[in-house]
Amino acid sequence: MPQQVRGVIARGKGEPVRVETIVVPDPGPGEAVVKVQACGVCHTDLHYRDGGINDDFPFLLGHEAAGVVESVGDGVTEVAPGDFVILNWRAVCGQCRSCRRGRPQYCFATHNAKQPMTLLDGTPLSPALGIGAFADKTLVAAGQCTKVDPAASPAAAGLLGCGVMAGLGAAVNTGGVGRGDSVAVIGCGGVGNAAVMGARLAGAAKIIAVDIDDRKLATALRLGATHTVNSATADAVEEIRALTGGNGADVVIEAVGRPETYKQAFYARDLAGTVVLVGVPTPEMTLELPLLDVFGRGGALKSSWYGDCLPSRDFPLLIDLYLQGRLDLDAFVSETIALDQVEEAFARMHGGDVLRSVVML
Ligand code: APR
Ligand code: ZN
Ligand code: ZN
Repeated sequence: MPQQVRGVIARGKGEPVRVETIVVPDPGPGEAVVKVQACGVCHTDLHYRDGGINDDFPFLLGHEAAGVVESVGDGVTEVAPGDFVILNWRAVCGQCRSCRRGRPQYCFATHNAKQPMTLLDGTPLSPALGIGAFADKTLVAAGQCTKVDPAASPAAAGLLGCGVMAGLGAAVNTGGVGRGDSVAVIGCGGVGNAAVMGARLAGAAKIIAVDIDDRKLATALRLGATHTVNSATADAVEEIRALTGGNGADVVIEAVGRPETYKQAFYARDLAGTVVLVGVPTPEMTLELPLLDVFGRGGALKSSWYGDCLPSRDFPLLIDLYLQGRLDLDAFVSETIALDQVEEAFARMHGGDVLRSVVML
């Protein structure tokens, strides 16, 4: 039987979001209905509300979530009712060229649930990143569910579904940070601070946190940064070089998404270092660089998407580390809120007051 539950809906560009009644169908083949327990508020949800992603209103927001599988459709083997799962927005196909070449992180045929969730009048909803988890229950593809140890707190676990995974994976997976490396992280919001945490986990010797907001730098120190640079008052590139014996960092992670910070990342790396770009620029942004500098530097320039994660590999492992006390996911949960407080959380996100607000259901 289709179920009626509450969901946070964005009806039109820039309009405040509202809790409305939605209809969640029974899971079809390859699908699962998940009872959501926690869902973090991410910038991407706000971009959806503001029409920055596409115009497929109405959206069912929320995509950084953990919960319990309630029911599954025919042919589902990945998960079973009762499993505690983290939702991911890249269920890989296993068959495309990238998947077959052993690079499923670049799968270009990722999939979501086939049936739509709807409003009461039957209007189909567009779930944010194919998830839609600011809701009591949501319908996803079974491949979007990754089973993890249920001893983890849902609020912390859900964060691995997007922002924390993006930052941590940028350091560990994309950047390949290793023991003894020097790492600089430019921009220490939720994503950048997760990169700081990842760098520490990977055994970096020096972790330089750069931000224009001292509150963010204080959190970075708590998560493992060894040095901080407030780039509102100091030259980020000069400071990073000075802290690395004049060389630049082995791995520089950009987690802002602006031309000036892309440029800082480019010049703050060691000649053979790696730049990892996680911050997402807007379409009109450009950057001019002397070609001789591009040519003259070795190393690598990489972008990182979803932390190059493989949910089936990374989520259970990171939850185990969390349960062992080696990964402080709780540090990212600035506040827990109710389903009808998402709009207020968007405002606080703008003010830079929180790393993550997490909706508890
Ligand atoms: N130099 C250094 N830090 C900056 C600058 C700057 N010029 N401008 C902003 N910042 C800092 C902010 O102070 C903030 O701490 O960058 C951080 C951005 O963090 P959030 O707004 O919390 O964003 P976050 O969720 O961490 O995402 C960062 O990664 O995945 C992408 O789309 C995401 O582009 C975004 C980026
Ligand atoms: Zn997100
Ligand atoms: Zn594929």
